[in-house]
Amino acid sequence: MPTILVTGAAGFIGSHTCDQLLAAGHRVVGIDNLRTGRRSNLALAASCAGFRFVEADITAGDTLGRLVAETRPDAIIHLAALVSVQESIQDPALNFRLNVQATHLVAEAARRHGVRRVVFASSAAVYGDAGQSPLIEQAGLRPISPYGAAKLASEAILSGHAAAFGLTVRCQRYFNVYGPRQDPKSPYSGVISIFGDRLRAGLAPTIFGDGGQTRDFIAVEDVARANVLAATAPQMTSGVANICTGRATTLNQLAAVLHGLVPDAPAVVHASPKAGDIRHSLGAPDAARAELGFTAEVPLADGLAALLTPQGAYSLAV
Ligand code: UD1
Repeated sequence: MPTILVTGAAGFIGSHTCDQLLAAGHRVVGIDNLRTGRRSNLALAASCAGFRFVEADITAGDTLGRLVAETRPDAIIHLAALVSVQESIQDPALNFRLNVQATHLVAEAARRHGVRRVVFASSAAVYGDAGQSPLIEQAGLRPISPYGAAKLASEAILSGHAAAFGLTVRCQRYFNVYGPRQDPKSPYSGVISIFGDRLRAGLAPTIFGDGGQTRDFIAVEDVARANVLAATAPQMTSGVANICTGRATTLNQLAAVLHGLVPDAPAVVHASPKAGDIRHSLGAPDAARAELGFTAEVPLADGLAALLTPQGAYSLAV
């Protein structure tokens, strides 16, 4: 079976990706500096014989090059990143190192050591506030944060390597990902993880604005499956695709479903809209369907119900 190297393996999306790769019988080498990732996310992976974990920073010297030379992976899934938009605004230099330089090092390690395929964690953040719905991959790309800009620059770096050196590169523009192991206390937590955490604690969730804003929420299990497909499906061509459901949910609808699951929870309170908040974000899923054979499968109601069980995400257990 192929060996897949996963950067950011101990993160929210990385750990689910490792679990699915291992379940499919692949060998997995995971690398993570544990800056925002957690070793506990890898409890299931660590119990598999085909898994090896390396605690290291991929931007430190030639750490990544040496690991690639030693393990000879068939593909790299590059998920290691500075994941907070807010942090990218506070520390653009750190954002550059962890989100742009890191991708350059991945592209170079792949080129130098003959790795044929790279899958990259891009983001709907590359679109900025495109004002178009649904967003297709050819929409205008005007990021509105250093984070979004770094994701776009990374796509360009990898595409250049694909064209010049014959790598197959898949850039996956994730929309709003939710699910187990998304730490509700972390500064990059999504609204579902924050709302779930508050409801379970008997606290009212706060909606910024009127709640009419919409998002395309996708379960992490679907996102991990899209990563596995992109890394391992035969005869893949290079390209960029939204990883989304194609379904828009308002925050008011989201809150109503969550309240249905936790009936005694206090009612939502509304606060002023968040500065810079995008009103509507909805992806077109057609390119992922055509190019990866990927369609999101977890209905939002099911994903939310699974989260709010005692075994769900907010226990942060595996
Ligand atoms: C998401 C990504 C971000 C990416 C952007 C690109 C997350 C956490 N963030 O931002 O990395 O750059 O998409 O399009 O996935 N909200 C509340 N109350 C809360 C928290 C949030 O009302 O307590 C609202 C926000 O104002 C927003 C919506 O919920 O309207 C979603 O917020 P959030 O989960 O932070 O994601 P995005 O802002 O869409």
